[in-house]
Amino acid sequence: MLPVKIQVRELTFHYGSHCAIQGLNLDIYQGEILGLMGPAKSGKTTFLRVLNRMCDLIPNVRIQGSVRLDDEEILAPHYDVDSLRRRIGMVFAKPVPLPRSIYENLAFAPRLQKKPQHRDDLAELVENSLKAAQLWDEVKDRLHDSALKLSGGQQQRLCLARTLAMAPEVILLDEPTSGLDPISTARIEETLTALKKDFTIVLVSNNTKQIARCSDKVAFLLMSRLVEYGVTPEVFMVPKQKETDDYISGRFG
Ligand SMILES: Nc1ncnc2c1ncn2[C@@H]1O[C@H](COP(=O)(O)OP(=O)(O)OP(=O)(O)O)[C@@H](O)[C@H]1O
Ligand SMILES: [Mg+2]
Repeated sequence: MLPVKIQVRELTFHYGSHCAIQGLNLDIYQGEILGLMGPAKSGKTTFLRVLNRMCDLIPNVRIQGSVRLDDEEILAPHYDVDSLRRRIGMVFAKPVPLPRSIYENLAFAPRLQKKPQHRDDLAELVENSLKAAQLWDEVKDRLHDSALKLSGGQQQRLCLARTLAMAPEVILLDEPTSGLDPISTARIEETLTALKKDFTIVLVSNNTKQIARCSDKVAFLLMSRLVEYGVTPEVFMVPKQKETDDYISGRFG
């Protein structure tokens, strides 16, 4: 059995009076991909925002319950949110490269943190991150070209590489392939599968086939509640709840 990286207990989240997550209990295992699926507005993005405390930036929200990362309570009032966000990286639906070179996109944040110290080490970090995101071969001869010249799929792998360059432990991805063609999508999926042994990955997707292809465990959210959770092939073959069956067979959502 793999170790639990993140343990969520009785998590309830409100935007003002609107409840976006209700009584969520979930374990996320190290070295696995958790696929999080559900129709629009079911609370998927909100859950990711809680995991790296991005929700702190939104006024008038209320969080109850417990989220433990390596057995440490991340919802504690004095928890160090900056270090949390370094440990838990995030990739969004739409890739947003900096309007700079490919190299600078990766070197920028680590350099600000003075980590690593030497130029050669930084070059190595850039190379390793691009390799891990499976982009190196396509860009190694044009690292100083603008990142904005890359295709959408390449930009998304660049954003993944940028996250990896910060050496996170957990990677959250919010519909990372929603704007991509099938070939670029397949590249991202392969990359995630190769990365999972070294990370803990939470992949939010509206695409149930993608969740079926890449995730080890799956959680199905519906109207702010966790309806089903389990080992991916089992959930897809024999869902316990009728709502899950309806959702994965495309009857709603
Ligand atoms: N900043 C916000 N302020 C107020 N309400 C919000 C905010 N963000 C989300 N909500 C509400 O919380 C609920 C859950 O939204 P959330 O974005 O988590 O859903 P989602 O599952 O990610 O949906 P989608 O598939 O459309 O991305 C929705 O009803 C949404 O309107
Ligand atoms: Mg969302």
